[in-house]
Amino acid sequence: MVKIAVMGYGVVGSGVVEVLTNHSENIARRAKEEISIKYILDLRDFPGSPFGSKFTKSFETILNDPEVKIVVEVMGGLHPSFEYVKACLEAGKSVVTSNKELVAAKGAELLKIAQKNNLNFLFEASVGGGIPIIRPISQCLAANDVVEIAGILNGTTNFILTKMIREQMTFEDALALAQKLGYAERNPAADIEGSDACRKICILASLAYGKHVYPEQVHTEGITKIALADVEYAAAWGGVVKLIGQVRALENGKLQIIVCPMFIPRESQLATVDDVFNGIMVRGDSTGDVVFYGKGAGKLPTASAVVADVIDCVKHFKARKYLYWEDGSEDYVEDYRLNVISMYVRAKTEDEAVALKNVKQIFGEVTRLSRKNAENGEFAFVTNSMKEEEILTKLEKLKSMGICVENTIRIGNL
Ligand code: HSE
Repeated sequence: MVKIAVMGYGVVGSGVVEVLTNHSENIARRAKEEISIKYILDLRDFPGSPFGSKFTKSFETILNDPEVKIVVEVMGGLHPSFEYVKACLEAGKSVVTSNKELVAAKGAELLKIAQKNNLNFLFEASVGGGIPIIRPISQCLAANDVVEIAGILNGTTNFILTKMIREQMTFEDALALAQKLGYAERNPAADIEGSDACRKICILASLAYGKHVYPEQVHTEGITKIALADVEYAAAWGGVVKLIGQVRALENGKLQIIVCPMFIPRESQLATVDDVFNGIMVRGDSTGDVVFYGKGAGKLPTASAVVADVIDCVKHFKARKYLYWEDGSEDYVEDYRLNVISMYVRAKTEDEAVALKNVKQIFGEVTRLSRKNAENGEFAFVTNSMKEEEILTKLEKLKSMGICVENTIRIGNL
């Protein structure tokens, strides 16, 4: 029998305990050993819980118990998760986590400790909730050079955008609903400002390209500026607005990586990924596009990935699972302003005829977009492809001509 501890009894932690308890026989058959939860760490009290005797408020009890061979960290946040996970690995315990903040910030360091101590540090649930993606990239697609990864990596924002697109629901109402359903982070700013998706694309990029990409290196924009007008213009253009995390390897050895809302064409595989679902496209040089789809958030999907890691850990007590990437470097990420893109622009003017003449003079030919119920003086267009820094300079010129640029969204070539 293998004894484990679960640190954190929130949405995911309670799901892990539920899955391990309800599926114990099948899990034991697959792991070839019974798995028993010895401790559940949480500072809160859970009166009446059937797991009452397992609760502890003391991390040291877990750390100092040699019977505990695997620790599941599902507390979230960087501190004290990092200190706890590091201490567990140094004490000879394998760790399974769903904590993307931890892996995105400290993955290289923790993987190194795990390697040194011949332990497993597994984090399938940190990206894509219940979707298998870490293992496929590190194992099934290992023969490929990864050309690009692009994905809808945050369930909450995808849920919000879907409600805006389909039901014209306000941003606030859709967010409140996502929180009620348990999709959003404790602090939903991480979802709506894009940092959750950023952490996830950092993990995928680090894994696919073998070197740590830190969240601070990635230009990140969330969905808070998206208005129903943009959703309508996206439809007129022939697509939808999605929050995309994207990384590509460049010939100069750097990575092009970004998180931002994009217009993506209706024909794209990612365009029909709706609600709380995530979709991740991995383009391999041998496989071509491989797309992963499923529930990217929520109690049981995430718990399923965590428990699968625990099973894998039990099966690999004597042989470490080979997950590894090296430390990052400051110059590893290309400045996003050097990316060649085209951009959707929504603007307002007092004199539309003059404004359009100015747009043409500055940008050359553009694709005009229109929508029903456009406000007076509102106009929208999509630029041709050019370096983003050129677009930004041209937009400044437009502004200096009295045109008010209300929003811009990149066009995703997906
Ligand atoms: N808040 C996250 C999301 C949870 O909405 O995708 C899963 O990481």
